[in-house]
Amino acid sequence: MATVGLKRIAVLTSGGDAPGMNAAVRAVVRSAIAHGYEVLGIPHGYSGLIDGDFVPMDARAVGGIIDRGGTVLGTSRCERLKSEEGCSAALQRITALRLDTLIVIGGNGTHEGARKLAQRGAHVIGIASTIDNDLPSSEVAIGATTAVDTAVEAIDRLRVTASAHRRVFLVEVMGRDSGHLALAAGVAGGAEAIALPEIEQDPEHIAAQIVAAYERGKSHAIVVVAEGARHNADALADHFHTHRARLGFELRVTKLGHIQRGGKPGVYDRVMASRLGAAAASHAVAGEHGLTLGIVNGAVKSTPLASLAGAIKPLDRQLFDLAQTLAL
Ligand code: F6P
Repeated sequence: MATVGLKRIAVLTSGGDAPGMNAAVRAVVRSAIAHGYEVLGIPHGYSGLIDGDFVPMDARAVGGIIDRGGTVLGTSRCERLKSEEGCSAALQRITALRLDTLIVIGGNGTHEGARKLAQRGAHVIGIASTIDNDLPSSEVAIGATTAVDTAVEAIDRLRVTASAHRRVFLVEVMGRDSGHLALAAGVAGGAEAIALPEIEQDPEHIAAQIVAAYERGKSHAIVVVAEGARHNADALADHFHTHRARLGFELRVTKLGHIQRGGKPGVYDRVMASRLGAAAASHAVAGEHGLTLGIVNGAVKSTPLASLAGAIKPLDRQLFDLAQTLAL
């Protein structure tokens, strides 16, 4: 299995899968091999690491995956890593496997795990990948662009039937407690209103936006609602149904759910994942670690993992305001 003397890195994917993760794994593996490294894949994220699972990866092992959604390595939300015992077990595995560097691909939970391991001495490099697009270290994370495309395709279809029936559609999108995905889907989908966790809006305010849209001659209203908004799709629907007679519009709710995570990665995600995966391998070869890689101003940017503790990516308020202006 191991070739004595070769330096060794391992790669894992963790948390919610995101389209483009496979392209990142492929780039890590092939770039590291090109640098003369041996590469291990760790199945099922940090759970696989703690359990001591690994598969040797050669260039052929990552053939034919650049166009595949999900993650060929498998993933998990690993509760065990949150405990001291789990963290120690992961560190012991890193030592036992003689890993120079562990490269982890995922979102906030993944990076919190990476930060804890790095703080305890492990050599870890993160790569930003989450459809929620809420990692402060990257303007755009792997998977986010494809997920927005998927949501917008659904919105485009819903608008057709909404218009035919003169209905309102509440379209709930993912994002956990952040509204980045919903905001992008709302702008790109031409929504009449957008409900986000970061911006407090009373249901009556959204109702007024819908009523005003009909008064301006529209035949439908699309409201994109982030799942984490204080008034989520169910809460808004309850309110609007209760006041149906007064508000006068007919309503349907569509929750896009995990559909947004599946599907082939788009071109942008494939290219970005390739750049970030290759950059992670280069940093590992240069002996640099304790960092995470993302895209800032179009370029690969390295950020210390330590700086992510408690950091929150701010919502683009100007984009939200623009969405309101363009909803006319
Ligand atoms: O991966 C991020 C995400 O899709 C969030 O948008 C969502 O809240 C969560 O994962 C759902 O997690 P699970 O797949 O574990 O139900």
